[in-house]
Amino acid sequence: MSDSCRTACEAKVAFQSCKSPDANDRVQFYDSWAQNYEKDHALMSYRAPDLAVSALSDHFSGSPEAALVLDVACGTGWVAKKMVERGFRHFVGVDGSGGMLALAAQTGLYQDLRLALLGTQPLPAQTDGFDVVIIVGALDAGFAPVSVVRELCHAAKPGGLVCMARGEHRGAPARKYKEDLERELDLMEEEGLWRPVGIKQSDRYMEDPHLNPEREEDTEEERFIGGTVYLYRKSIRPSVQISH
Ligand SMILES: C[S@@+](CC[C@H](N)C(=O)[O-])C[C@H]1O[C@@H](n2cnc3c(N)ncnc32)[C@H](O)[C@@H]1O
Repeated sequence: MSDSCRTACEAKVAFQSCKSPDANDRVQFYDSWAQNYEKDHALMSYRAPDLAVSALSDHFSGSPEAALVLDVACGTGWVAKKMVERGFRHFVGVDGSGGMLALAAQTGLYQDLRLALLGTQPLPAQTDGFDVVIIVGALDAGFAPVSVVRELCHAAKPGGLVCMARGEHRGAPARKYKEDLERELDLMEEEGLWRPVGIKQSDRYMEDPHLNPEREEDTEEERFIGGTVYLYRKSIRPSVQISH
């Protein structure tokens, strides 16, 4: 059951207990967290779905009502709820946690929801099938591996948009993940698979749930972690093949 009286301290405890580097353990953790996920993230001022959907909407030029959206690591459906406010209507969701998918189903927004542990199982999505592919909050160490971004690109229609939002979490594994991710994004651009449409940084992605709640010396700025939204357009036809 969702706990409507949860405090920020309880939310931080939940975030801090979600530490395993193993993606399978992580999604099991999300199964148990699902009922309190949105409440806890709201307590941490989680803005990722807003940031991603706003960046996407700035560059989406088609008819949102007609667009088919693949929401990868959809969780409880927060991103789809934000996209509905911008006129999008057709969603397919993918996540590794059955508990999170059960809540996504309750939104009534998804025409299909698919269970898959990314990195271990292939992305269950048709090649060239989606006008928009979006992933928010799951490109990080212990979540979806960097290799998944190629699968996101494959799932987009030629000319479709791929929107990826992630938080700049502190620590070496997160920094290494970011380096690897940006190398892969650049490589895919060199290969002519897509081109960047916009990269938007925010210094307020969410409050850092790993800061010690007892510390009072943190400034307002230090309480937050930043985030990045990467937006790419899939090539109509891959133009250059680079051999390495
Ligand atoms: C921080 S939540 C983000 C959910 C949603 N996109 C949002 O912004 O509210 C991360 C989600 O990624 C899912 N996830 C993490 N690693 C995954 C993996 N390897 N394969 C599939 N889903 C994964 C979790 O189950 C969880 O629902």
